[in-house]
Formats: sequence, structure tokens, C-alpha cells
Amino acid sequence: MNKDFLSISDFSREEILTLLEKSAELKQKRIDHIPHHPLKGKSLGMIFSKHSTRTRISFEVGMFELGGQALFLATDQLQLTRGETVEDSAKVLSRYLDGIVIRTYDHEEVVNFARHASVPVINGLTDLNHPVQIMADLFTIQEKIGKVKGIKVAYLGDGNNVTYSWMVAASVMGFHLAVACPSDHQPQWPKEMGSLGKVEILEDAFEAVQNADVIYTDVWVSMGQESESEEKIKRLQPYQINQALVDAANDGVLVMHCLPAHRDMEISSEVMDGKNSIVFDQAENRLHVQKAILEALLSPPQQ
Ligand code: CP
Ligand code: NVA
Repeated sequence: MNKDFLSISDFSREEILTLLEKSAELKQKRIDHIPHHPLKGKSLGMIFSKHSTRTRISFEVGMFELGGQALFLATDQLQLTRGETVEDSAKVLSRYLDGIVIRTYDHEEVVNFARHASVPVINGLTDLNHPVQIMADLFTIQEKIGKVKGIKVAYLGDGNNVTYSWMVAASVMGFHLAVACPSDHQPQWPKEMGSLGKVEILEDAFEAVQNADVIYTDVWVSMGQESESEEKIKRLQPYQINQALVDAANDGVLVMHCLPAHRDMEISSEVMDGKNSIVFDQAENRLHVQKAILEALLSPPQQ
């Protein structure tokens, strides 16, 4: 397994399936109150330059439950924002910590940090991608549908960091991803695409949800992009997940959102609270899946 987890493509299909199995095992242990402390004595640093509710708290709680500790490191409190280089910071922090999660703007900063760190670095979201989110989403789909391979996911809305990781995931795991977004808000095509599945980018939301097993959305205005919001929100109106779109998909279609949601913007409250929505199970699963990732990277099995 790779030292770092910066993109979905850092893991093979087999490694992802093993991590999903491990996530289920850790979820069950937690339900049964069985202690599991493979990371006893280990410390995770969490460098965050952007807001977070789920990622921060699920990593902190996850590390604690695995027997270790997590240190939340707001970027503006580190010498990193007073001129210390990424390279020097990575080298120094590697002397104290057993793993580092980073949430920041520029993806290249995380790549550079990982290159100079001697401990595993995990991407907690960049402007480019959000791989830990999509790992939890894959687990949630596997739990609800029983498989990931061969399903159809329709992603509606802004082509952003979450879309990017979905595209890589479809090509590594082998499923059909139909992205529907306005022509001027399409996602970047990932360099690291795998060879499986099918990814298409459409403009028509109703076309995308035909035969979909999952309909997914994310905020229309991502962190750091607030200045472009007014015009963009107008352009994105036809991509709102509402009851009409749910009715146009497969019966029992699952509705997912990585959250935070802007209710009645990218998703109607009716759908978010409706019977097809699994958004809160999805949010919970961040904890179980990230614990599996932490255990795999920070405590690899002894040879
Ligand atoms: N979905 C997600 O990453 O949420 P946070 O921004 O709250 O961490
Ligand atoms: N695309 C969103 C995801 C938030 C979890 C953002 O980057 O703000």
C-alpha cells in the first residue's frame, strides 16, 4: 500500500475492497463496544486551512478510538504561515507525529508536503479532490446496495473536488458515473484515471438520473470560491435534487450528499429528509472508513 493517501488512485481496487471490509469490521466492533487500540501511543497531526465539521471530528474521534491521539493544527497558528517552508515543516512534523492529515487549497502543497514527510500523509480535501469522502461514500453504497461494481451513480451540480474523486473512483472500481452540470462548471478530467467503469459528462440532469442507483450532489459554492457565487447559483438551478428528479431515477434510488448541505439550494429539504436519503448514514461512515485508513497506513501489518 502507498505511504500516503492523496487520491483514490493511490489504492488499487483490491486495496479499496479490503479497506471497505475493514471498515465494516470496525463499525461492528464499535456497535459491540469491543475495544480496538492498534494505534496506542501514536499521534496524528491535522493541519487545516479550511473549515470542517465531519472530516475534523471523525478523524479526531477515530484516532482516539484506535488508541492514539489527534492534534488539531490550525494553519494560522503554525510557523507555516509565517514563512517556514512546506518542506521544512514536513520534515520537522515527521519527527513528532506518526501521520498527518491536511486540508488546504492548493493540491500541490499536499503533494509537496507528502514528498518531504517521512510519515503517511492523508488528504483531508484540497481544491482538486476529496478522496476520504469518496471512500466513505463507496462504503455506504456497498452497505446499502451490496456492491459498488456495475452500479450507476448520477452526480448533479457543480463539477468540483468531490466530482473529481468520484470520476477517479468510477474508473478504479468499475461503475458508471454520469455527471450532469452546466457546460461552464464541468469538472477537471483527472490525470490519474483507471481503466474500468464509464464516466460521462452531460448537461441534462434528467438524462443523467435515468436508471441511476444513486443520485449525489455537493454544495454549489465550494470553500474558497465564494466570489463566484451569484451567477453560478442561477446556472445551477436545473441541477437541484428535488422530488421530480428522484422520481425520474430507479425506484428506491439512494440520495447522497457529502454535506454540509444548503437546503433548498442544491437539494430540496423534502428530498434530504425523505425516504431515499441516506445522508446521515453517509456522514457517520466517515468515522468507520477513516479508522480503517488510519489503521492501514499508521500501523501496517508486521512482515
Ligand atoms: N463532507 C465534508 O468533508 O465535511 P466537512 O467539510 O464538514 O469536513
Ligand atoms: N466541494 C466542497 C466540499 C465540502 C466538503 C468544498 O470544497 O467546499
